[in-house]
Amino acid sequence: MSYKGYLVEENNGVFTSSIKNIDVPKIESNSVIIKVHYSSLNYKDALAATGAKGVVKSYPFIPGIDVAGEVIESTSSKFKIGDNVIATGYKIGMSVFGGFGEIVHLPDNWVVIMPKELDFLTSMSYGTAGLTAAACIKKITDAKCTDKLPVIVSGSSGGVGSVAIGILSKIGYEVHALTGKTSHEETLKEMGAKKILDRTQFMSDPVKALDKGIYSSAVDAVGGEILAKIISMISNHGVVSCCGNVAGPKFTTSVFPFILRGIQLCGIDSAESSIELKQELWNLLSNQWSLDLSNQTKIVDITEIEEEIDKILQGNQIGRVVIKHGE
Ligand SMILES: NC(=O)c1ccc[n+]([C@@H]2O[C@H](COP(=O)([O-])OP(=O)(O)OC[C@H]3O[C@@H](n4cnc5c(N)ncnc54)[C@H](OP(=O)(O)O)[C@@H]3O)[C@@H](O)[C@H]2O)c1
Repeated sequence: MSYKGYLVEENNGVFTSSIKNIDVPKIESNSVIIKVHYSSLNYKDALAATGAKGVVKSYPFIPGIDVAGEVIESTSSKFKIGDNVIATGYKIGMSVFGGFGEIVHLPDNWVVIMPKELDFLTSMSYGTAGLTAAACIKKITDAKCTDKLPVIVSGSSGGVGSVAIGILSKIGYEVHALTGKTSHEETLKEMGAKKILDRTQFMSDPVKALDKGIYSSAVDAVGGEILAKIISMISNHGVVSCCGNVAGPKFTTSVFPFILRGIQLCGIDSAESSIELKQELWNLLSNQWSLDLSNQTKIVDITEIEEEIDKILQGNQIGRVVIKHGE
């Protein structure tokens, strides 16, 4: 039996991709074979699909860190044939063939039962980006950061940022969206942002060791000097959840926000989070933190993914891209 997958191949350092028929693997112990109904496009998938260093171990490879589908074979005591499940992160789409194929073979401890309030499409509208946004916000709510000051979200029109805006505004925070796409002000406001901040203008003054503490907390999906500036603007006992590096991996800060304001810089690694945390975040996303993402989710066929990969790599993607497999 074979399935269709978006296979990325390398030839002398040149990466090409095409839809290929691939043999369904023989199931291992404590594992499941899942018929993937939907996957989604994350920044990491775009890196995997274009051969960026440090993401995929070896090619040929099928990317796709997100999976929503149905168990069709199981050697696990936790899952039976017919269970609807979600799997994100770990080594999926990095060293284990991922959701850009119609079938995945995964260890059972990477998989959660899809909450009954979700369906395949909705769960992948969140995907890893949504799960990461939820993990960032949990740091903020766990620390009980004040809602008397706004929260700033960077990379706000992207996958993580757009879901973060929606959840934060739903749970009562005023959200200020930092963006390079000020022409999309209305879209960001529809997502729940109260104020739109132009990235270039925001970064026009040099980063200070300590700036006015005007934000309660932050979700930062971009890193670099933008993160440094955000850190300097967080009020007492605020939290900065740091999850991305599209603006660069390095930043320069000082000890002052930490020792004079007691702020926390929290790193987020959703891929390797415990399965228990992932289950908890999926439960939040399907209940108290649930969003209607239909207006900010584009559904594409796997044959249309290349264009979307280019867009996400150029920072031009807005909201989420979901991949629908089969009929
Ligand atoms: N740590 C984790 O667990 C985890 C999980 C998921 C994702 N991530 C990371 O989080 C980041 C965002 O992921 P995503 O899926 O949301 O990607 P995305 O959809 O491409 O969103 C990124 C957004 O960042 C902004 N941006 C792009 N280039 C920029 C630049 N040079 N400088 C400043 N801002 C820029 C753009 O938004 P605006 O135009 O609105 O500014 C873009 O839409 C990536 O680095 C990704 O690898 C980490």
